[in-house]
Amino acid sequence: MNERDSETAAALLSARGYRICNDELDADIIIFNTCSVRDQAERKAVGKIGIIKKIKREKTALIIGVMGCMAQRRGEELFKELPHLDFILGTDQLHSIAEIVDEIVKNRRKLVADAQNSSFPDSIDTHMAVETGDFSAYIAVMRGCNRFCSYCIVPYVRGREKSRLMDDIVKEARLLAEKGIKEIMLLGQNVAAYGHDGMPPPKSMSEGDSPFGELLAAVSEIEGIKRIRFTSPHPAYFNDALINAIVSLPKVCKSVHLPLQSGSDSILKAMNRPYTAERFYEIASKLRSLCPDITFSTDVIVGFPGETEEDFIATRELMNKVGFENAFIFKYSPRSGTASAKMNDDVPQELKEARNKILLEDLSKRAAESNRKLVGETVEVLVEGPSKRNVERWSGHTDSKRLAVFDNPGNLKVGDFVQVKVTRASSSTIFGDIL
Ligand code: 5AD
Ligand code: SF4
Repeated sequence: MNERDSETAAALLSARGYRICNDELDADIIIFNTCSVRDQAERKAVGKIGIIKKIKREKTALIIGVMGCMAQRRGEELFKELPHLDFILGTDQLHSIAEIVDEIVKNRRKLVADAQNSSFPDSIDTHMAVETGDFSAYIAVMRGCNRFCSYCIVPYVRGREKSRLMDDIVKEARLLAEKGIKEIMLLGQNVAAYGHDGMPPPKSMSEGDSPFGELLAAVSEIEGIKRIRFTSPHPAYFNDALINAIVSLPKVCKSVHLPLQSGSDSILKAMNRPYTAERFYEIASKLRSLCPDITFSTDVIVGFPGETEEDFIATRELMNKVGFENAFIFKYSPRSGTASAKMNDDVPQELKEARNKILLEDLSKRAAESNRKLVGETVEVLVEGPSKRNVERWSGHTDSKRLAVFDNPGNLKVGDFVQVKVTRASSSTIFGDIL
């Protein structure tokens, strides 16, 4: 979502006549988009903004702004720590970024805009992805979160859930398809709660319909859109209706990000995550039984207050049982104002690090194994351009999000679909030849 917000900021400023430049040393205005999910993310942002102070000393007209979750969380107080900042723009004020920058350029005064605003405009549908000739675009379908997981700052800095109208989203996706976009990533802090209007999730798998599943079906109808991905869904919203939509709609990628957080029921309870390890496994198993090729990725927190060796082993075992191909493993970081910040952060840092390392090693082994199984098979790849590691070769991703590297016979374009016969694999990449 932060990437989408950066893109929105860039698009709104470009529309106002500002130009994006590639090097901060060439810039007249530098805006930092920030994250507050962990303390380390905030410290990194503060550090980087601090370094820019040197540039401002020599180039006094330079304007420096901060936007995103840290801007929302800390507001005016940031001026004390970073007095060289010119403006602070909260999460609900993104739509006014061009006016705010204009105002500062004209009047050279410091400005804070961090009021939380329930009338945040439903749709900001300008996309830089179109101008840069990209094949993929983000669409924010909902914003905010009502779940209040006990460790999480997001509901405080992003406010309550607010879904956009399905018609507006489909219209935006259609316009993107007309401009050559092939892949859409549907975004929301709690994306599977799309259309729930804050209502609690269904109590059982068989209960309820799925407005998010309906949205997936509506976007699937658009000719030109070939792949649909989404992030991040909360498992509690996975009922049969959503599972059926995912497995039955061919354009919905069979690679699902399903945040687990912990595989221990007592830790899940303390996290205020309303599912058990068993229910989580049931969801993954159901998806896999209906679609054997499906792959899963996840988010896990190690070292949550009170996490014992047994709790950690439960997480490790469930991760191995589900067979996640990829995961973001986070070391617990207390965020002030959240419920868990009042709990004792009693897992020592070294233990958090050790647990983090074990899970990463498990993952890398599993990914290598499942990539190796593909050697000899043919996979469909959406071409993304020259490979980052070796520009002589080209790369793209499979439907299940595997990175594939191959030779460009000379006529490949970004956004093409190709069949690649896999000849070799590592834990992160598959290599092959175009058929
Ligand atoms: N400490 C560590 N990780 C966190 N996350 C959210 N809050 C915290 C925290 N306080 C992780 C969760 C979430 C991901 C985006 O960040 O795993 O899914
Ligand atoms: Fe944070 Fe996600 Fe929980 Fe919402 S559902 S509170 S964004 S972890």
